[in-house]
Amino acid sequence: MLRFAQALDTQLRAAMERAFPEAAAEAIAAGRPLDPQLAQASKPEFGDFQANGALALAKPLQQSPRQIAAALLAELEADVAFGALCLPPQIAGPGFLNLTLRPEVLAAELRRRLTDPRLGVPLASESGAGSAVAPVIVDFSSPNIAKEMHVGHLRSTIIGDSLARVLEFRGHPVLRLNHVGDWGTQFGMLITHLKQVAPEALTRADAVDLGDLVAFYRQAKQRFDEDEAFQATSREEVVKLQSGDSVSRRAWQLLCDQSRREFEQIYGRLDIRLSERGESFYNPYLEAVVADLEAADLLVVDAGAKCVFLEGMQGKDGNPLPLIVQKSDGGFNYATTDLAAIRYRFAAPPAGDGARWVIYVTDAGQANHFAGVFQVARRAGWIPEGARLEHVPFGLVQGDDGKKLKTRSGDTVRLKDLLDEAVERCEADLRRRLVEEERQEDDDFVQQVATTVGLAAVKYADLSTNRITNYQFSFDRMLALQGNTAPYLLYAVVRIAGIARKGGDLGDGAATSAEPQAVFPDLLLFSEPQEWALVRELLKLDTVIAEVEQELLPNRLCSYLFELSQVFNRFYDQVPVLKAEPAARASRLALCRLTADTLKLGLGLLGIATLERM
Ligand code: ARG
Repeated sequence: MLRFAQALDTQLRAAMERAFPEAAAEAIAAGRPLDPQLAQASKPEFGDFQANGALALAKPLQQSPRQIAAALLAELEADVAFGALCLPPQIAGPGFLNLTLRPEVLAAELRRRLTDPRLGVPLASESGAGSAVAPVIVDFSSPNIAKEMHVGHLRSTIIGDSLARVLEFRGHPVLRLNHVGDWGTQFGMLITHLKQVAPEALTRADAVDLGDLVAFYRQAKQRFDEDEAFQATSREEVVKLQSGDSVSRRAWQLLCDQSRREFEQIYGRLDIRLSERGESFYNPYLEAVVADLEAADLLVVDAGAKCVFLEGMQGKDGNPLPLIVQKSDGGFNYATTDLAAIRYRFAAPPAGDGARWVIYVTDAGQANHFAGVFQVARRAGWIPEGARLEHVPFGLVQGDDGKKLKTRSGDTVRLKDLLDEAVERCEADLRRRLVEEERQEDDDFVQQVATTVGLAAVKYADLSTNRITNYQFSFDRMLALQGNTAPYLLYAVVRIAGIARKGGDLGDGAATSAEPQAVFPDLLLFSEPQEWALVRELLKLDTVIAEVEQELLPNRLCSYLFELSQVFNRFYDQVPVLKAEPAARASRLALCRLTADTLKLGLGLLGIATLERM
């Protein structure tokens, strides 16, 4: 619908200029051209779009909105291009113009999409939404070395991956960065502790696994908090590491490798691509951050620490909040690293990434951290004009009880166990269903379906809620065959594949080798309201994807795919397809084909694979 919206917007603007030349000229001179306020129709019975611009003009023109709407309508009716696109418009309510696209225009657009691998979704460069050369950076997942990857990281991974996929599909070069926590004081304690209790872990690559490391880390932290001598040695160890001491470096490298192997397993299962560029990468740039801030006259020394006082952000005592850049002992912190990262990401190559848009996907608890870091980066002059810098926050993952997700014994949930359980539950459900339906399937089939559906369910449950709210994790809900769930959507795809198996030619090479061009007639004919509802729903894909890109909300895409599946199921339950007479049959099969393609594409952008049978 984007193309139509753009064409209509242009035609409406021109009509306004012709109907009210003086007001239009004045508005242009004032830098605020008259706006037809084109929007999607609020209800299907109002047509496809409505233009509300007449209302805002009533006062300046001293005419009633309906009079203004009538004048616009007269101009539109004289416009041949408009007439080719829309049926005669209706004036409604106080002065809205209701616009309905011509059926033959909708049918032709649908036909065009059958042979378009992008299904009508333009590239961002074609729709003027930003340049396609400067990379967009999505900073997501970003777990910490020697610590377990937890459900918060899972959310970041799933949401970040989906946003990256949408941006890539729109043609942006995307840099998917894993900002792993691989630097800082925790390594001092961990290395000191391991030297004493498990020195082999520091010299042999596979001496310990992540579970052991996490336990060692806990012990080290406890000693650090209780034992002053241990504290002092740990601090010395950090200094050694940061100054490049070869023994410390090698120990650090091994620890990172061990964690990395575990992370990679999760990424592999979830089909996530990421480039690791951890905190340590920015170590050489930390001094430059301090120097830049000093030169910009932003640094204040407060109780020995170098900090920047934040504008408009107060602490509990009402005093301006400082962002500490360098601690009194000379050490740097999480925020300093993030400042160095921003500086690097926006800097022109080869000194940096030359990004024009940077997105951080982390829990909402880090909102203040990013607000502070972004403010300092702007004041330091590191953010180019027109660049976008965004924190994409998300809520907590809660258990069924509304509390933080925990295992029954009260431990934090390991991601591996969580994914395993989703797949196991799926397998059990599937085996039960096979018995009920008296179906015979081999183990490969069961495994493949259970894995695909289980992982899809975990991802979809996360993506389909508005990310900003907390999200209640429930296997039962996410695996249900009914409702806004992955199984429901996957089932719609399976249903359509079933049509091909029953002899319906969907032109996708399954039932025939012919291309859609040959299979579907040039003129598609629709008569039933269920068909038109499905046509209109299918044509919304481009608008929805542009919105997801703009608002960075994958749940918009989920709602759309759910709505599409429902509209499709209504159509397929109420209108004959395979038994229809030939002309109607071909047009209806075209609807089935495009529905399957749209669901596959949309689910693909959510990182979810589809099945032909389940
Ligand atoms: N490692 C951090 C954590 O586990 C997330 C890092 C997010 N990215 C960033 N540039 N700060 O909370």
